[in-house]
Amino acid sequence: MAYSEKVLDHYEHPRNVGSLDKDDAYVGTGMVGAPACGDVMKLQIKVGKDGLIEDAKFKTYGCGSAIASSSLVTEWVKGKTVDQALAIKNTHIAEELALPPVKIHCSILAEDAIKAAVADYKAKNGATLETAACNG
Ligand code: FES
Ligand code: FES
Repeated sequence: MAYSEKVLDHYEHPRNVGSLDKDDAYVGTGMVGAPACGDVMKLQIKVGKDGLIEDAKFKTYGCGSAIASSSLVTEWVKGKTVDQALAIKNTHIAEELALPPVKIHCSILAEDAIKAAVADYKAKNGATLETAACNG
């Protein structure tokens, strides 16, 4: 199958590969697997004091589309709030990368990974987030 140019670009020059300290209170870690193919994606975000995601890293053991999807998502989440990051849908990813139907689940993996990372961050910082909300 032919990969789109954007997939190849992210696959050959993946952005933000690596790890953040998962014990850091401001780091959220999402680890998800795709039952269909066994591919695994780890995606991490680090939220700054201003509530914006200041860094994101990923490690993906999977196909080119999964690597490209996670690379793209780490670029997209930077500068966003965690709730804005939750609004990223796999359809946006699939559209940007021009993924064929058989590769849609690779973009779902990336959406699931960002959701899991935000959930982990929120679980660690639930009290902090509520306080921030009260301060409006
Ligand atoms: Fe093998 Fe995704 S199915 S790498
Ligand atoms: Fe399974 Fe891409 S083939 S994540």
